[in-house]
Amino acid sequence: MVQATPLLLVLFLALGAQGLAVKKCSLTGRWVNDLGSNMTILTVNANGAFAGSYHTAVTATSNEIKVSPLQGSMQKSPNQKGQPTFGFTVNWSFSDSITVFTGQCFVDEVGKEILKTMWLLRSRVENIKNDWKATRVGTNIFTRLQSQE
Ligand code: BTN
Repeated sequence: MVQATPLLLVLFLALGAQGLAVKKCSLTGRWVNDLGSNMTILTVNANGAFAGSYHTAVTATSNEIKVSPLQGSMQKSPNQKGQPTFGFTVNWSFSDSITVFTGQCFVDEVGKEILKTMWLLRSRVENIKNDWKATRVGTNIFTRLQSQE
């Protein structure tokens, strides 16, 4: 019984340390935002580069919405502490516009991942006189879409 004590202590510490391990936020997977837009991010490579697809729920145009490609980059510095900053560009397949998103991947107080982003949507205008009205700005909050297994 006396010999079992150090073993139990090691076991207890190991389990405790595991329980305290901070959950990391991962960009990979399917996300939905507050507008109802869906986004899929494929593997983030060793340099932080990633690609994916974006299905917007809304458009500033009268065009039929189509799934569009995105390309992004995630910060890989050790200071990110599991809540990395990132940026990505959506090159819309159905309009002349481009949107850039920038944000951070957070883990909230109940362990849920959340992407807080800001975006700039650049629309094409016919001439430089109309440049002043070509850029919209906004925010989007993304939560992970639960996979239906
Ligand atoms: C366009 O209308 O020209 C392209 C679609 C733009 C959709 C915007 S991008 C920012 C905001 N967040 C979304 O999920 N959709 C809109």
